This record gives sequence, C-alpha cells and structure tokens, in this order.
Amino acid sequence: MLALAFLLGQHFMAIVNSVLEMIGNTPMLKLNHFDTGLCELFVKMESQNPGGSIKDRIAVRMIEAAEKEGKIKPGGTIIEATAGNTGLGLGLVAAQKGYKLILVIPDKMSPEKIRHIRAMGVDVRITRSDVQKGHPEYYQDYAARLASEIPDSFYIDQFSNPNNPLTHENETGPEILAQMEGRIDAMVVGVGSSGTVTGLGRFFKQHAPSCEMILADPAGSILTEMVNNGRMTDAGSWLVEGIGEDFIPSICDLDLVHKSYAISDKESFQTQRELLEKEGVIGGSSAGTLLAAALKYCQEQTTPKRVVTFICDTGNKYLSKSFNDAWLADQGLLSRELFGDLRDLIARPADTGDIVTVTSEDNLITTYKRMRMFDVSQLPVMDSGQVVGLIDESDILLAIYGHKEHFNKKVAEVMVTELDIVPPNAEIDAILPLFKQDKIAIVADSETFYGLITQIDLINHLRKTAI
Ligand SMILES: Cc1ncc(COP(=O)(O)O)c(C=O)c1O
Repeated sequence: MLALAFLLGQHFMAIVNSVLEMIGNTPMLKLNHFDTGLCELFVKMESQNPGGSIKDRIAVRMIEAAEKEGKIKPGGTIIEATAGNTGLGLGLVAAQKGYKLILVIPDKMSPEKIRHIRAMGVDVRITRSDVQKGHPEYYQDYAARLASEIPDSFYIDQFSNPNNPLTHENETGPEILAQMEGRIDAMVVGVGSSGTVTGLGRFFKQHAPSCEMILADPAGSILTEMVNNGRMTDAGSWLVEGIGEDFIPSICDLDLVHKSYAISDKESFQTQRELLEKEGVIGGSSAGTLLAAALKYCQEQTTPKRVVTFICDTGNKYLSKSFNDAWLADQGLLSRELFGDLRDLIARPADTGDIVTVTSEDNLITTYKRMRMFDVSQLPVMDSGQVVGLIDESDILLAIYGHKEHFNKKVAEVMVTELDIVPPNAEIDAILPLFKQDKIAIVADSETFYGLITQIDLINHLRKTAI
C-alpha cells in the first residue's frame, strides 16, 4: 500500500484507449553537444508519435474534418499521395476507423517505410520519383486519377487540404510555445506539403511575432531561391526524404518565411549521423537537413537566441539507406579513401567488415539465410582470410532441387573454386568480359582479398563518374 501511495504521487502517463490518443504532445529536447554559437538549440521530437513522424498529427485531423464535412462515408476508401510518413499516419487512423486506404508512393522512399505501410494492410501503389507534376505517373496526379475512378473514395490531398496547416496552427504551435515558456526567437522547418511552415508561421505571427521562420531545404529544391531571391528555378533531385519541392503547394505561404538554407544530401546525412552519435537521437534524413540549417542559423547570430527545430521522423525508417555505408557509397556520398584503381569500385570492402561471407564448412541453409538477410545473390567463401570459392543462388538451387535434405550440404561441396581473380591495378576493361559471362570479379593480390565487384557496382561507378 505504501509503495502504491508513493507511486500515485509521481507523474506517470495515464492509460490511453486508442493509439490515436498518443499522437502529439511530443518532448522538447535541448541539444548540448553541437556548436550553437551564442544560441540555445532545441529539437521537438516528432519521431515519438506512434507512426514515427509529425504526419500522424495531420492524418487524424484531416480524416476527422472529412468525416464532419461528409466527404468520407463509413467503409469508404481514402486515397493519398505520400512520401511515406503521411501514409503511416493515415494507416493508423484508417485501421482504427475502418476505412480502406490506397497510397501512391514514389519509388525513392525507404523500403522500411513501405514495408511498415504494407504490414498495416494498406494497398500500396509504387510510382516513379523521376517525373514532375503534370506527368500521369507523378504521385499526386496518379492519386487524383485513382480518386476519380474509385467510387466512395476521398482524396485527402495534404498538399491543398486546409486542415493540414490548421492542425499545426491549432496544436503543434501552441505546444511549442508552451514548452518554450513563451520564449522562442526562431523556428527552423522543412517543407514537404508545407502544412508545418504555413500553420506554424500563422501561429507565431499572431502569438510570438518576433519569432523568425527559417527554412531548411534540400539542395535541388526550388524553395531556397524562391525565398531568398524571389526567383523560380528548375528543380533538381535530392535523396533526403519528406522535404523539398519541385512546385509550390497551394497551401504554402512563403511570405511567412524569413530566410532559407539549401543543404546538400551529403551534409544532411552527415548531420543525421552526428545527431545520433552526439545526442543519442535517431532521426530521419530530414532531421539532418533541419539540424544542419539550424546550426548555420545559430552560428550566424550575434545575440543569444532560442531556436527550435524538429526531428520530423525516426531514423529507424532509414537503416537501409542513410545509416548504411554501402548505400551511401553507392550514392557517391561516403568520404572513402580512394586508390585510383579497382578497389574504388568495391561496394563492401573486405577491410571495413562490411563484406558478407561464408566459410567452406558452413552449410547451404546458413548460406541461403545470409543471402536473404543481406539481399545479395552470391557470397565469397573465405577460410582463414583467404578466398577459397564463390557460391551463388544457382549453385544452391541446383544442389537442393529435388533433394531438400541437401540444405545440410557443406558449402565446400557446392562452391565454385575456379575463381576469376583480378588484381586491384587491372583496367576496368579487364573485368567486362567476366560480366558478359554473368560472372563477378574477385579483387585480390597474392596477400590480400579486397572484395567483389558485381555488374551493379560497375554501373554505380560509371553513374558517379558521369555526373
Ligand atoms: C520527414 C518529413 N516529412 C514532412 C515534413 C514537412 O512537413 P510538411 O508536409 O508539413 O511540410 C518534414 C519537415 O521537416 C519532414 O522532415
């Protein structure tokens, strides 16, 4: 009883009746390990929402508003074009309220987000991310077309839905101001649908008019030129997810914005990693962009200021991308030692521990599981630091077809031992004939095994050097 009386005096979160009640009221964290000049920098942890992002907030409010306005009927279908996070939020709400949900997602989005959405039972349509507004496969045009074809459907359209900015004006803004005890000098935000910038801009204009709205924009997006110089430019491309624009959404009010910083993918991904290393916060790729811009702003100030930015989503959604060195290397974004020879083409160098291998004593089931886990179709066979063979999917298939018990066979019985070894200083031309025979190149000299080069590695190399 005593223990219970003690516990009752503490502040614990109350039991909630629905996952939807866990949306919002996210923590505000002061950063302590970055150079913020004269300023104090705080991050609002939107990654703590149940769907893992800021978009849970608008998902619930946009659906509630559509219900009130009679735009969604019980059992109806919700359609949305989304970079993933809005889809996760809508997935939560649709499941709780019994709606069908169809999401159109551009193909650059992380596989983690897409798997998460699919696991919610959502109908996912993947479309091209290399086309712009007006193209039938552009994700928003595709979603609008679906909505016109499917009966009893409602296109949420976060890019022009007034309830999107209204959510931030009515809820996110007041939360931030209360957490900052009314003292905030700058708010650094990214623009995806622009709900956040418009809603918060309106709220602060009224309730904290000296608070400057600052944009963090991926290099390649049109917004920085528009905000800083009033010039419309052609959009480029960027890898950071969820922010950056190739058009100005109808709900976007850029007049509320004071200044914009263009941040490269490389700087965003580096800052995303630093955030985890220095502060223990695993944020998404856009958290890197927002933090990098916020740090630049802080370092430019000549008087102390209280600056807030967002961790818009959790980095758990990006483990296979920006937290994966092999992926960064494929994008040409990892600062790796360059040798000026074939070693530069190896995606998973042996000496970094990134390479996945088996030994000749492993069995085929272990080999198969390792290939599945790391999404590769061949593995080098290594005994005591030396490559002794190569095993690929077809070796396993031929061994076990009609003989499932052969999954227990040792790799040594199945592997290929006639190896195509090329020294690191060989010309690229020397490995092309191997690829013509559907083989891969093993890069090694008499002492050292450096790694493998596959056809996709060569394509990546040629793409990087073509830019
Ligand atoms: C992952 C992600 N999604 C979306 C947004 C922006 O939200 P909005 O759609 O309100 O512009 C951000 C902003 O930083 C973000 O990082």
